[in-house]
Parts: sequence; C-alpha cells; structure tokens
Amino acid sequence: MFPPVLILLSGFLCHVAIAGRTCPKPDELPFSTVVPLKQSYEPGEQIVFSCRPGYVSRGGIRRFTCPLTGMWPINTLKCMPRVCPFAGILENGTVRYTTFEYPNTISFSCHTGFYLKGASSARCTEEGKWSPDIPVCAPITCPPPPIPKFANLSVYKPLAGNNSFYGGKAVFTCSPHHAMFGSDTITCTEHGNWTKLPECREVRCPFPSRPDNGFVNYPANPVLFYKDTATFGCHETYSLDGPEEVECSKFGNWSAQPSCKASCKLPVKKATVIYEGERVAIQNRFKNGMLHGQKVSFFCKNKEKKCSYTEDAQCIDGTIEIPKCFKEHSSLAFWKTDASDVKPC
Ligand SMILES: *[C@@H]1O[C@H](CO)[C@@H](O)[C@H](O)[C@H]1NC(C)=O
Ligand SMILES: *[C@@H]1O[C@H](CO)[C@@H](O)[C@H](O)[C@H]1NC(C)=O
Ligand SMILES: *[C@@H]1O[C@H](CO)[C@@H](O)[C@H](O)[C@H]1NC(C)=O
Ligand SMILES: *[C@@H]1O[C@H](CO)[C@@H](O)[C@H](O)[C@H]1NC(C)=O
Ligand SMILES: *[C@@H]1O[C@H](CO)[C@@H](O)[C@H](O)[C@H]1NC(C)=O
Repeated sequence: MFPPVLILLSGFLCHVAIAGRTCPKPDELPFSTVVPLKQSYEPGEQIVFSCRPGYVSRGGIRRFTCPLTGMWPINTLKCMPRVCPFAGILENGTVRYTTFEYPNTISFSCHTGFYLKGASSARCTEEGKWSPDIPVCAPITCPPPPIPKFANLSVYKPLAGNNSFYGGKAVFTCSPHHAMFGSDTITCTEHGNWTKLPECREVRCPFPSRPDNGFVNYPANPVLFYKDTATFGCHETYSLDGPEEVECSKFGNWSAQPSCKASCKLPVKKATVIYEGERVAIQNRFKNGMLHGQKVSFFCKNKEKKCSYTEDAQCIDGTIEIPKCFKEHSSLAFWKTDASDVKPC
C-alpha cells in the first residue's frame, strides 16, 4: 500500500498533468507573424505561423497546438524574401543593386549616347515584381540638321534612319563669296539637338591699293569678294615687303598689305662679312646692292685682346648703317691684318 502522503502527492501531480501547463509566448521567427499572439496559451490552444508579405516559406504555414507539457514544438519555418526576376543586365546601361530581393531598390543609368526610357529606379514588391517596370536605354538621336542660309551640307551621314545618333557630325560649306562665321562642324548633343549652327555671310573687299614703286594685279570684276586674290610686284631696285599674293579675308580686308622697299647701295668697297652663316666677300655677293631686309655681319677688332667679333647691319628701305667698329683698310695698307683674319674673341 502507498503511504497516504504519496497518494496525495501523486493525485496532485495527476491533476496538474490533466490541467496541463500554459505555453509561453512563442519565440520570434524572422519575417513571420503569429496568430493569435499572446503572452501565454492554455493547452489545446492553436497558433498559426505564417510569413509576412514579401516573404515565403517552402513549407507554407505552420499550425501548432499548445501541448500539455507547456512547451511549443520545434518550429522549422523559415521565411525568405521573395526574389524579383531580373538578369541584372541593362543593354547600353548599368544597374546598381545589392540583391534582387524584396524590399530592395535597384537603380539604372545609361551609357553615354543613350537615355533612360522609364524610371531611374525600381523596387521589388511584396508580390515579387519590379515596380515600376525595368526601363530601357534608348539611343539619343538628332533630327536632320537645319541648313544655314548660303550654306550647303558637305558631310552628313544619318545612321539612325533619317536621324543622327549622339556624337554624329554634319559639316557645312558656304556658297561662293560667303565666309563662315562659327564652326563649320556641328555635333548631335546629349540633348538630342545640334550644337550651334555657323553663319555664312557675303564678304566684299575694297580694291587693293597700288604700293609706291610697285604694282598690284587683281580680277577685273566690279566687286571683289571673299577668297579673291591680288598679286603684288615692285619696280626694279625695289623689293616686296610682304607676300606676293594676298587674299580677301572674312573680315573684308586683305590678308596683308605688301609694300615696295628700296635696295641699299653697297656701303663699302670691300669687306669679308657673314651672310646667312657663311663668309662672303660683300663686293661680290652684293654687286648690285643689298635688298631691303637683307642682313650681314661685319668683323671688328678688339685691340686690347687682339681678337675679332661681329656686329650686324641690315638694309632697311634704302639705308644701311655700317657698324662704327668696322674699319675699311685701304688696299695699299697691305701690312695690316683684316679683322676677319683675326681669331675670334
Ligand atoms: C547597345 O546595345 C546593343 C545590343 O547589345 C549593342 O549592339 C550596341 O553595340 C550597344 N551600343 C553601345 C554604344 O554600347
Ligand atoms: C526619311 O525622310 C524621307 C523624306 O522625308 C521619308 O520619305 C522617309 O520615310 C524617311 N525615312 C525614315 C526611316 O524615317
Ligand atoms: C550649294 O547648293 C546649291 C544648290 O543646291 C548650289 O547651287 C551651290 O553651288 C552649292 N554650293 C556649294 C558651295 O557647293
Ligand atoms: C539643346 O538643348 C538643351 C536642353 O534643352 C539646351 O540647353 C541647349 O541650349 C540646346 N542647344 C542648342 C544649340 O539649341
Ligand atoms: C583685318 O581685320 C581684322 C578684324 O578687324 C583684323 O583683326 C586684322 O588684323 C585685319 N587684317 C589686316 C591685314 O589688316
């Protein structure tokens, strides 16, 4: 027989077991909800675990009943974020993302020459779809360019049907007698328009004036226009200072104004000089005088150091100044050494 105390005790235990223990609030499971959620549950009470919107579990929902032990069974439910379908590649563009899972946002940009047709970002929704839709990168194009007055298109290759892609170019030429102001080349910009158009303006030049001691030839037309040319020449013993040919410039003036400059008579009877890097006898090289602009170097003596140095002289419109240090020897003074024969300083 059992002792009465033991009977009493076991009867109490039996009562507790039948009455059961209460279950505690269930452990939280990431991205899931519990219905109903309470601090405690009586044995026999049911709870349902399900994933929150945007999350899914392979097994679907889990239903549990609070057992008499008061301990919830092990819950293997795993809620994972939905993944939105996308390869992560945007043609002619770039996608920036961390993952394609709910609730992430990805953003888009297009390569140069393309523009975003659609939204610049999209969010993976609870339903596992992108919102708004994934955009596309469409090529930037420019319509056929307008043609300035008095201009023709010299280069233009539309590659997008009748339109041009970003970076496409068109080149203009002006009609005869017209000068270009601005760049002759325009480019299709990222805004889908062309860079600034040039202007073609008619340009006239006055008749060129005849230089003193010379002449000028130009077309026998009533008006001289842009790009017309005139040629200049000088009378004998004069030489041209400037180009022989000048052109009517876009500013309505001539590209240069040449003039005729007088030659110089030979300034000494005899001397060894340097002309264009070479030693020459001035009386032979410049028998007919020196032309305007020609330059020679005369030899001079440094008496103290017994050496020679040179000084320049240039013919400027009929005048040449002989360096003061230069001494011309009489041909009779044959015992004197010429400066050009003395060692250089
Ligand atoms: C744009 O994408 C298309 C298709 O992938 C490709 O053929 C083309 O070369 C791309 N253009 C540029 C400028 O990247
Ligand atoms: C290009 O322009 C011509 C003349 O305006 C037109 O007939 C043709 O349909 C256009 N082509 C395209 C591809 O738009
Ligand atoms: C431009 O085109 C017009 C007619 O389309 C032609 O008469 C003219 O000679 C052309 N000008 C040039 C510079 O090609
Ligand atoms: C091209 O379009 C952009 C943007 O609309 C504008 O700022 C720019 O001035 C335009 N360029 C020309 C040459 O019209
Ligand atoms: C022609 O005119 C332009 C603009 O006024 C000036 O800059 C240029 O120096 C002139 N040219 C000559 C050769 O005078």
